[in-house]
Amino acid sequence: MRKKIVAGNWKMNKTLDEAKALVSEVINMVNDEVTGDVQVVLCPPAVYLTTVRQYLSGNGRVSLGAQNCHEKPSGAYTGEVSAPMLQSIGVPYVILGHSERRQYFHETNAQLAEKINQALANGLTPIFCCGESLEQREAGIHQDFVRQQLTESLFHLSPEQFAHIVIAYEPIWAIGTGLTASTAQAQEMHELLRRHIAEKYGEEAAQNTSILYGGSCNEKNAPELFACPDVDGGLIGGASLKSREFTNIVKARQ
Ligand code: G3H
Repeated sequence: MRKKIVAGNWKMNKTLDEAKALVSEVINMVNDEVTGDVQVVLCPPAVYLTTVRQYLSGNGRVSLGAQNCHEKPSGAYTGEVSAPMLQSIGVPYVILGHSERRQYFHETNAQLAEKINQALANGLTPIFCCGESLEQREAGIHQDFVRQQLTESLFHLSPEQFAHIVIAYEPIWAIGTGLTASTAQAQEMHELLRRHIAEKYGEEAAQNTSILYGGSCNEKNAPELFACPDVDGGLIGGASLKSREFTNIVKARQ
């Protein structure tokens, strides 16, 4: 059975003291209030990974993720963080292909295929983001576009490798805009992604793949989004910066 996951992507937010306060509040609330089998993943900025990890140690329900890694294992890439580095500090998850990185840092599907390889080679679980722009949706090419993102970045993997992939569907027009995909839109795309995976890796692999929704997910809309049969959890941006709201989202998924 596939995992239920709620991941918080803090993006480029919080000072060190604020990050410490947020992680300790989330840990306390999750420990006190969450009883179900949902996996929580906190993805702070890279400079705080080691600190946040100390708060999580021994807590099986709350895990740690990075927001990116480089496609090369080491070398003269000033400012970058590699997958072996993340592995060496005990980071289990890494977000790859977030639309902000595709847009602002020009990450391509081919480059993301290399990042995925690096992550897997170093024992990290990639949370692979895909999703279309508003223009693409309005032009009716959103389904093809998102299918192509998976094909070009993931479908070179062996079935054994693919079993470690988590997908996050994040329509770009819903990210940080307050415009959430309707439950019908989310379910339609998640079902389509699962079918696309089934065509390549078979029905069992598709049924075992966790597909998260991201894009203005909050404590109000999370229950109905998570009630969709193919929505296995969420990748939460803005609402993950508030411990009370984030915990409520986790509780909606447990
Ligand atoms: O990674 C998270 C997504 O970009 C969603 O961000 O919840 O602020 O819309 P948001």
